[in-house]
Amino acid sequence: MPSDEFLVTPWEVEGNVDYNKLTALFGTQPIDDAILARFKRLTGSIPLMLRRQVFFSHRDLNWILDRYEAGEKFVLYTGRGPSGHTHLGHLMPWIFTKYLQDAFHADLYFQMTDDEKFLQKDELSASATRGFSYDNALDLIALGFDPEKTRIFLDTEYARTLYPIALEVAKRVTFSAARAVFGFDSSTNIGMVFFTSMQSAPAFLPAILSGRNVPVLIPCAIDQDPHFRITRDVAPKMGYYKPALIHSRFFPSLLGLDKMSASIPETSIFTTDSPEEARTKIANAFTGGRTTAQEQRDLGGVPDICAVYQYSFYLFEQDDKRAVELREECLRGARACGECKNELADKVVQFLKHHQAAREQAQDRIEDFIIRDCQE
Ligand code: TYM
Repeated sequence: MPSDEFLVTPWEVEGNVDYNKLTALFGTQPIDDAILARFKRLTGSIPLMLRRQVFFSHRDLNWILDRYEAGEKFVLYTGRGPSGHTHLGHLMPWIFTKYLQDAFHADLYFQMTDDEKFLQKDELSASATRGFSYDNALDLIALGFDPEKTRIFLDTEYARTLYPIALEVAKRVTFSAARAVFGFDSSTNIGMVFFTSMQSAPAFLPAILSGRNVPVLIPCAIDQDPHFRITRDVAPKMGYYKPALIHSRFFPSLLGLDKMSASIPETSIFTTDSPEEARTKIANAFTGGRTTAQEQRDLGGVPDICAVYQYSFYLFEQDDKRAVELREECLRGARACGECKNELADKVVQFLKHHQAAREQAQDRIEDFIIRDCQE
């Protein structure tokens, strides 16, 4: 693919994503200063992922905040396609979702699309995707979600509730609309064609369960937006509010600027990686460094293409002043890549130790979060 081209679908992200072009292409709105000021007014602060434009785009965010200010609370909805272990990229929208739950006292529905990953991945059996659902749920719980306010479900185990809603959606989506949005062709299995209606269903769940219209906000990376264009199209036809969305950029791959990918393990740090594995991956990461130490000192590095810098900026350097200093020190050649890699590795290892201990404890609490209405 030429260097100025890119592709973003729910199943594939390729090339160097130009986020300005993408918002124009998808027809979403940028998160502007007025929205940041609104978050500050409503919650007392602006979280890191908004300050740094990690969450950068939205649909109807102002509308949902209007409803909130008018006393109508919103419900959060997000999810995971359980095709393997969780990587740090997946955690990013969940960490932000946790912030939203706390700041807005919001309930959360979390969908595990074990059906989607079974249909999409030839190599995965239904029992494997079910197993990964439970494994990935530990990561979610480990982030500290409130069990009183959080419901996790697997599509295959909550099907009695979801399927009738998905049917209502499916009846209103033509094959040509789905093909235009997702690029299906005649070799696509028919399960994948129907699947988008399963991902739409939870957007209407709070309304259906409570018997009244409920605003829903979906935090996710922008790759999932195509599903919700369909959801938003059918919502008024079904008599419900359109769900609002808030989109993040992609946490980069360790090997360069494209998306971290679970299918190439060296590109990602998984929450189950040992400290040694994480350190080795970071030691081998792509940086914006020059070929020799002398060149690095003379010319400076290129932080904007550096995976190690991006990691700090997106997640691991909480101090805004320090994040700016790191960038400037790199630009003027005052930092060697090894230094940045070591500092990042220490932070990642510390995070993993804490997260893995919380994952262990989550084992005993999983049933406090899971809802199901049918089981094999
Ligand atoms: P999945 O499993 O591909 O991804 C789970 C969540 O992580 C986001 N994501 C990323 N975010 C930042 N950087 C990355 N490198 C990265 N890779 C993935 C995804 O956007 C997603 O938010 N079909 C969905 C599961 C799903 C869902 C939902 C997601 C069902 N309902 C509602 C969001 C909202 C999937 O396969 O996600």
